[in-house]
Amino acid sequence: MLKKNLVKAFSEQVNAEYYSAYLYLVMSAYADRAGFKGAANWLFVQVQEETAHGTHMYRHILERGADPAFADIKTPPSNFRGIKDIFDKVLEHERLVTERINNLASLALRENDHASYNFIMWYVNEQTEEEAGVGDILAKIALADKNPGLLFTLDAELGNRTFVDPFPRTQAD
Ligand code: FEO
Repeated sequence: MLKKNLVKAFSEQVNAEYYSAYLYLVMSAYADRAGFKGAANWLFVQVQEETAHGTHMYRHILERGADPAFADIKTPPSNFRGIKDIFDKVLEHERLVTERINNLASLALRENDHASYNFIMWYVNEQTEEEAGVGDILAKIALADKNPGLLFTLDAELGNRTFVDPFPRTQAD
């Protein structure tokens, strides 16, 4: 059985993951309308990943015999200033998520809940990858400063990203 403070913390993280999905959906729409179809695709894959994270955490609460708590999902900002601004904000957002995940891991340890700690460690590793991936994109955007043509190459590259469900379920699950 999940302790009350962990139910609260995991429920808040479910909300935060769905907020992330919503934020990336707003960003994807912006990129699409700005003509960066590849970036729009990359951000839409991000929407699918965040939704999978939120659902995975929700299932963890249920599997540990608790009731998830639900709350409003706040409205994401939509005042972006170009593609660099979008990815700067993705990185900024993912750093905040990393902080939240670390806090969740610390709480699980303090509560001696090793199942939750083990569960959240997947996200600790995921955050390292997320931040590194966005850092790579920003490095390429910086290169495009001197050679704007590179932006089109980058956009084509971002268009190749596909969603792979990190937690596929079988009917037996
Ligand atoms: Fe759910 Fe972008 O981490």
